[in-house]
Amino acid sequence: MTAAQPARPVIVLSRRLPPATEAELTGQYTVITNTDDTPLPAAELVSRCDRNRAVALVVTPTDRLSAETISTLPDSLRLIATFSVGYDHIDIAAAKARGLTVTNTPGVLTDATADIALLLILGAARRASEGEREIRSASWTGWRPTHMMGTHLGGRRLGILGMGRIGQAVAVRARAFGMEIHYHNRSRLPPDQEQGAVFHPTADSLLTVSDVLSLHCPATAETTGFLDRDRIERLPPGAIVVNTARGAVVNDADLITALRSGRLAAAGLDVFAGEPDLHPDYRGLSNTFLLPHLGSATVETRVAMGACVIDSIQSDLSGRSPTNAL
Ligand code: DGY
Repeated sequence: MTAAQPARPVIVLSRRLPPATEAELTGQYTVITNTDDTPLPAAELVSRCDRNRAVALVVTPTDRLSAETISTLPDSLRLIATFSVGYDHIDIAAAKARGLTVTNTPGVLTDATADIALLLILGAARRASEGEREIRSASWTGWRPTHMMGTHLGGRRLGILGMGRIGQAVAVRARAFGMEIHYHNRSRLPPDQEQGAVFHPTADSLLTVSDVLSLHCPATAETTGFLDRDRIERLPPGAIVVNTARGAVVNDADLITALRSGRLAAAGLDVFAGEPDLHPDYRGLSNTFLLPHLGSATVETRVAMGACVIDSIQSDLSGRSPTNAL
């Protein structure tokens, strides 16, 4: 008679993870994968945790864990690990009240997201979508001095709203393009972290100098709908808006009106309220440069995010407090 193997802890994954991450998890745990990678309703996530007596649930920004959902999670669960730095999709207070540990993946996606912010700034300023569409539709009639003129970045003022890791990495990159950097943050950074940027004690003050405004604040009750008509009016005429943070920070109808009227020159957007069902009018505007939430989408970054998730699970299951506990 062979001795019964001790049961391996069960981990439920809401979506497919990078192959290297899934392979490492599968080597250590019983992993319930979302085989076809379609978004799962919250009730189905709860049911999978319940049926399998899961100890950890790995989610992504598209999985909403409300207080109500959290109240229905089984008692076997100890950890919710989100495969993201943002955690506005999880009611953290409700999770903590239930004694659950919640972790995220900070630090490892800073450079990838800052790179995408620069791609958006350049794409919006230099009319990259319009240009690409002209080539693909075979409607380009050739080089001419007045063709598709965009905005030069050198000497322009970049306003960074939210000077955390990603905001600082954007500042470093934008300086290489000759931009003058300004920022607003809840508190002023120590000089060695300011990257030579000018601090503005209020968001309104930052807006008035932002020829290009790059959003890097989390979506909270305070920042939801932040960029509305009144705040857009404070931006210099012909300003460019870039968002790699969260769609909820922008009032879509007001941004679309300003883009349509020419009050704003262009917008570069990687995130959208209600994504993937973004406001349909964005698609029809020639002055939008749009990406499908690709901020952290490099192989290296996604594998590093997976390593954070694995580390959180290992720490929590061995009784240590995970480094990335919220
Ligand atoms: C995050 O991590 O919060 C991003 O939005 C997805 O990488």
